[in-house]
Amino acid sequence: MSVPPPTEQTAGIAQSGPAGDPLAQPDPALTAFWAGQARQLHWERPWAEVLDWSDAPFAQWFSGGRLNVAYNCVDRHVAAGHGEQVAFHWEGEPGDTRTITYADLRREVCRTANALLSLGLTAGDRVAIQLPMIPEAVFAMLACARLGLPHSVVFGGFSPAALRSRIADAEAKLLITADGQYRRGTAVPMKDGTDEATADTPSIEHVLVVRRTGGEVAWTEGRDLWWHELVDAQSDTHEAEAFDAEHPLFILYTSGTTGSPKGILHTSGGYLTQAAYTHRTIFDHRPGDDVYWCTADIGWITGHTYIVYGPLANRATSVLYEGTPNTPHEGRHFEIIQKYGVSLYYTAPTLIRSFMKWGEELPGRYDLSTLRVLGSVGEPINPEAWRWYRKHLGADRTPVVDTWWQTETGAVMISPLPAEADAKPLKPGSAQAPLPGISAAVVNDRGEPVGRGESGYLVLDRPWPAMLRGIWGDEERFRETYWSRFARQGYYFAGDGARYDEDGDLWLLGRVDDVMNVSGHRISTAEVESALVAHPSVAEAAVVGAADATTGQAIVAFVVLRGDAQHDERDDGTDVVGPLRAHVAAEIGPIAKPRQIMVVPELPKTRSGKIMRRLLRDVADNREIGDVTTLADASVMASIQQGLADG
Ligand code: PRX
Repeated sequence: MSVPPPTEQTAGIAQSGPAGDPLAQPDPALTAFWAGQARQLHWERPWAEVLDWSDAPFAQWFSGGRLNVAYNCVDRHVAAGHGEQVAFHWEGEPGDTRTITYADLRREVCRTANALLSLGLTAGDRVAIQLPMIPEAVFAMLACARLGLPHSVVFGGFSPAALRSRIADAEAKLLITADGQYRRGTAVPMKDGTDEATADTPSIEHVLVVRRTGGEVAWTEGRDLWWHELVDAQSDTHEAEAFDAEHPLFILYTSGTTGSPKGILHTSGGYLTQAAYTHRTIFDHRPGDDVYWCTADIGWITGHTYIVYGPLANRATSVLYEGTPNTPHEGRHFEIIQKYGVSLYYTAPTLIRSFMKWGEELPGRYDLSTLRVLGSVGEPINPEAWRWYRKHLGADRTPVVDTWWQTETGAVMISPLPAEADAKPLKPGSAQAPLPGISAAVVNDRGEPVGRGESGYLVLDRPWPAMLRGIWGDEERFRETYWSRFARQGYYFAGDGARYDEDGDLWLLGRVDDVMNVSGHRISTAEVESALVAHPSVAEAAVVGAADATTGQAIVAFVVLRGDAQHDERDDGTDVVGPLRAHVAAEIGPIAKPRQIMVVPELPKTRSGKIMRRLLRDVADNREIGDVTTLADASVMASIQQGLADG
């Protein structure tokens, strides 16, 4: 058998065990570790049991314990005398700013909570939130957490149809949104879209609207309420009630291998424990000294865990930025780092590659000397981008931590720790090792661990506190998606490929399923395909992720047109392709717009009718076409290539 990976990285805590071991069982060393971390939070009632795994794969962490997540993120710090510490330096895209201390944050969250109570919401009711990156987004999330109302934040760039399906799936009673948002220097309407989304969502009782741009909006009397009228009129005190450690905190939708997004469910005590622990150690965060900036959007898990819950639990001072990185100019991020003296900066490889494109002289024009830890998340970071990041933002001295995790894991799982960087040199492009308390393995098809120098599937072989507690309303899909592949061993299947190098360090290799990663955004091929075939011109569609120098992957679609559309296409190919790209953007959101749509006469299929994406990926990546012997009709690839060459 091959050499098992090393275990020293978890500071005396067991990592992976041999195949066949009932690994789904909790490891007492790991649970004891997490109990120690959980004690750093404020519990109104201590837990009776650290981990109850008797109903696996449904975990219960800290069962019997009671806490209030918002109290832990806000009130606790004010009570300890830190009310005057800045919680957020907010920068609006047009240049407006707002400084929010912990005392301000407490008042705003209390007002918002009182407003939600006045609407008759009670613990357990779901609240949908689609907002730009404005302080009200944080107030809204924390007010929900305070009242035990699971929130479902929907990224601002998602289409009305995408918002509608998320509201419907969670049966949200309230939608919190804005009149509009600033995007690249212009005010863009938002409420038009949310009105379209809520035209057919019977569960929605009210729509609470933040005035951000001042644009004209349509108004439904009795349903729509202005934030500045309802919230601002409320009392700024509210007594937080503690909830069970397993009370649902939020649902966040993410793409899977099939068409409809999955509502990933996270709960309170375990999630907050791991969010706080990872934020504290991965960034070596020092409350009161550091200025921290995570550039994600609150619509993604990174925004939930590393803009809101983790940093606030750790009493961080954060930057919250509304806009895009190149508005009004490409030095915007560097300007903000300089302005606030940002010391901890967390972003995605796709942005680093954009910085590289914009030129190294740009960061050189700003004082970035306050930076002391740089983080990366969302996709594998290529070594060139890693080195550039460290050189041009980190003066070739700061640690760069490559953090691997997922919406489902809730918080970081695999990452180097800056505090250990002296003892264990960082490796550009490698996430290196599971964090203390976390156990992971790379296994082959049969679920057996691979050795050094080998690759396989990444699995998580012990429960962890921030793990998802299910897919909203779909227990079967939860079991099937994550726990069926290595059911015998009881492993969580992450959907990523990984490799151990000769030192036993982990390298993440990207998805092994039909999920694409475009600029760190997860989009399923099936989702884009179903949007395409919903268009009247399209008979069939196949979508693949092609390599892209900036976005990591880019969406490339192959479509077979219906008979009448084929006729139009012959006159001018752009007639069909332009509207199809726009159609996908309208169905899902601009992030899902294919970079390229190729009109082909047929799709390559096996004899059993399965589309051979591998061959289409070869075309999309401009590679030599691989083995075509399993095709039902071997001439299909030739005709596709011929057609593309003629086109
Ligand atoms: O493929 C992995 C990739 O992003 C996926 C998770 O996407 P999502 O749930 O949207 O969460 C993104 C933010 C945590 C993973 O399955 N991924 C994320 N971080 C890394 C990564 N791939 C390689 N290295 C990373 N650091």
